[in-house]
Amino acid sequence: MSDKTRSIHGEWSSRFAFILAATGSAVGLGNIWKFPYITGQNGGGAFVMVYLACVAAIGIPIMIAEIMLGRRGRQSPINTMQSLSAEAGADPRWHYLGWLGMIAGFLILAYYSVIAGWAMAYIFKAFFGGFFGTDAGEVKAIFDGLMASPIQQLFWHTLFMIVTMQVVMRGVQGGLEKAVRFLMPALFVILMILVAYAMSSGAYEQGIEFLFSPDFSKIDADAVLTAMGHAFFTLSLGMGAIMVYGSYLPGHVSIAKTTFFIAGADTIVALLAGIAIFPLVFANNLEAAAGPGLIFQTLPLAFGHMGGGWLFGVLFFVLLFFAALTSSISLIEPAVAWLVENKEIERHRACVWAGSACWALGVAVVFSFNIWSGHKWFDKNLFELLDYLTANLMLPIGGLCIALFAGWTMRQTDTEQELELPEQGFQVWQFLIKYVAPVSVFLVFLHVLGVL
Ligand code: PFF
Repeated sequence: MSDKTRSIHGEWSSRFAFILAATGSAVGLGNIWKFPYITGQNGGGAFVMVYLACVAAIGIPIMIAEIMLGRRGRQSPINTMQSLSAEAGADPRWHYLGWLGMIAGFLILAYYSVIAGWAMAYIFKAFFGGFFGTDAGEVKAIFDGLMASPIQQLFWHTLFMIVTMQVVMRGVQGGLEKAVRFLMPALFVILMILVAYAMSSGAYEQGIEFLFSPDFSKIDADAVLTAMGHAFFTLSLGMGAIMVYGSYLPGHVSIAKTTFFIAGADTIVALLAGIAIFPLVFANNLEAAAGPGLIFQTLPLAFGHMGGGWLFGVLFFVLLFFAALTSSISLIEPAVAWLVENKEIERHRACVWAGSACWALGVAVVFSFNIWSGHKWFDKNLFELLDYLTANLMLPIGGLCIALFAGWTMRQTDTEQELELPEQGFQVWQFLIKYVAPVSVFLVFLHVLGVL
């Protein structure tokens, strides 16, 4: 184990603190906002099956690998990859993997912050009773109003970015650990309340059937790519976020057990969000394929009609904001850690630089929902393009490289020593990371390119 070296950025106070932070990174808008809407766009059950299979066969082994690389390298992903490739006697160009991840995190945060801004806007809409007694048309009008207003979105996006940077400035232990400790259980409880409401709302069975009975004729190669990309996105894999958190992990912790916990919690939250939302969609004759506005057009209906809806509505959006915050912190951390290590600037300056650049790109994302919505590349507006580029391409490519590096380039004695798994467990992991994960990612890419 690599206890000998410690990260210069600090270390988690315990295994529990790492679990909290990594779960905080994984559970975010991806689970509650993105999973339901892409499931709706891609026909339901079959898409969910592919996503779950990708989490199990690709996501979990790669998460183990990514945490392991971080803990052994103990630096920002770029420098970690440099020192680990030197250790393995491999090509130093492996460090480009760190670059790819840093850029992906940056691009994701630019739009993530805009969507998190929507969640903040909804805290206030809920607080001022905006959803009380509303019908589906009114709720849609509220959302469309927000979309049409660059000023409102810019305000919330800016505020969210400022808050994120404040937390990142305080560093690993100061900012993160405290925030997640209460957040996860609270989010879980409120999702359960929403599920209970969905059960009584009329179309529960239809919602469950949509989510869990697969009809594979409904998905094509692109849907499979989206499901696989989402497995990476939701687990924060393939871009160094989990790697950089792993670099702050004390040496004696079991990486595999930790991974199962994080992936399990992440998957449960996503499924609960789906179970809460789709019955509402069908009960109110809404469109499952409504797109990024889906949760903002369905959940307010529940809050507007259920007992205690005002309180739950405010709480839900506050928690969604916090869930987004603990993820966005990890999106920018690789860049901040790299700036501190290589440019020898202080942490707070690194935050200002990285945050400002991300904010500026986010402004363009805001415009892509209104004044620039007509500007398209490959039939996608800027938001859709960034999402596709990062979740469907950059993260899976990053994950593929992590799998190849951990499975084929690192010395087996080193991986064995880091993971400390029982022999059979190690063999299973090795098989998944050497063959199953890389080959699956590769095949999905070939399929999308039409080669298969
Ligand atoms: N996992 C986060 C979510 O599901 O919302 C998003 C994310 C965070 C993706 C960090 C990638 C990442 F590195």
